Amino acid sequence: MRAVRYGGPEVLTLAEEPVPEPGPGEARVRVRAAGVNPADWKTYSGAFGTDPARLPLRLGFEAAGVVTAVGEGAAGPAGPLAVGDEVIGFRLSGAYASDVVAPGSAFVPKPAGLSFEAAGGLMLAGATAVHALTATGVGEGDTVLVHGASGGVGQMVVQLARARGARVVGTAGEASADVVRRLGGEPVRYGAGLADRVRDLAPGGVDAAVDTVGADEAVDVSLALVPDRGRIATIAAFERGAAEGIRVLGGGPGADPGTELRDAARPELARLAGEGRLVVAVAATFSLAEAAEAHRLGMQGHTHGKIVLVP
Ligand SMILES: NC(=O)c1ccc[n+]([C@@H]2O[C@H](COP(=O)([O-])OP(=O)(O)OC[C@H]3O[C@@H](n4cnc5c(N)ncnc54)[C@H](OP(=O)(O)O)[C@@H]3O)[C@@H](O)[C@H]2O)c1
Repeated sequence: MRAVRYGGPEVLTLAEEPVPEPGPGEARVRVRAAGVNPADWKTYSGAFGTDPARLPLRLGFEAAGVVTAVGEGAAGPAGPLAVGDEVIGFRLSGAYASDVVAPGSAFVPKPAGLSFEAAGGLMLAGATAVHALTATGVGEGDTVLVHGASGGVGQMVVQLARARGARVVGTAGEASADVVRRLGGEPVRYGAGLADRVRDLAPGGVDAAVDTVGADEAVDVSLALVPDRGRIATIAAFERGAAEGIRVLGGGPGADPGTELRDAARPELARLAGEGRLVVAVAATFSLAEAAEAHRLGMQGHTHGKIVLVP
C-alpha cells in the first residue's frame, strides 16, 4: 500500500508499505478521501511537542472510504461492518493512505448522497462544532459570535448554530464574508474595531461566543461582549483561554476533549450532511503525493472549507 508519513519537520514522504490486515474487532477501509486538518501539521511542526521516538509519524485523523476487510466481530455504532460498506472514519491514525485499519467503532455509515470528499472532511470539524455549541449552551433565540466563521470548523459552527435557532454573527475577512452569509450567518470583518462592529450589528448583546481562531482579538472581543464566561469557548487559544476562565475544548493541555460527546455526534452529522442540511465545502483536493502542498495551502490560514486528499 501507499501511505504519507513524517520524514522531518519540513518533509512529508510517500512510502510503500504492506497493506495492513484487520485484527479482531477491526476493519480495513480503502480510503477514497482523507480530511486535512491543522492538527495534522501541528503534529509534526512541534506544536504538540516533539518526541523522536514517535517517528515516523503517520498523519490523518479522518477519512471516508469503502470497507475491504473485516476482523471478527467488527462493528460500528450502526452495527456490524461488512466488505463493501461505504463508511466515514474518525479518530483514525494514518488516514493519509490508500488503506487504513481501525477499530470498527471508528466507522459510521456514509450517506449515499454525500460525496466521499465531503464525507472525508466532515467529522473532525463537525464534531468540534457540536462540542463548542453544546459547551456554550447555544440554542433558540441566542445571538452567538463565531470567530473564524468562514473556516473549516467555523462553517460547521455557523450552520449548526443556525439549526439550533440561534442568530449568528461571524467574523471573516473581506474575501470570505459571502461564505458566512450563504450559510445563514451575518459576517463582520475581523481586525481593529471588531467589538464596535459587532455591537452595531447586535445592539441587544451577544449571548455566547465560539473562537476557532485563537488570536487575542477573538478572546478579547468575546470577553468584552459576552457577560457569562461559561458561554465563551475556544478551540485554539489554549493558554489564554485557561487563564481567562473560558471553556477550552479539544486535545490541548487542560482542555475538555469532549470525546464521548464528539463521538456521539457522528450519526447526526452524517444524517444532516446526507440530507444536504449541513454543507461541507471542499476548498481543494490533492493527491497523497501532494500532501505537503496541501499543508502549505492550509498553513496560510485562509482556506474556506476543507482540504481533502484523494488517494
Ligand atoms: N480544539 C479542537 O478540538 C480543534 C478541532 C479542530 C480545529 N482546531 C483548531 O482550530 C483552528 C481552526 O481550524 P480550521 O480547521 O477551521 O482552520 P481553517 O479552515 O484553516 O481556518 C481558516 C479560516 O480562518 C479564518 N481566519 C484566519 N485568520 C483569522 C482571524 N484573525 N480572524 C478571523 N478569522 C480568521 C480565515 O478567514 P479569512 O480567509 O476570511 O481570513 C479562514 O476562513 C486551528 O487552530 C485548529 O488547529 C481545534
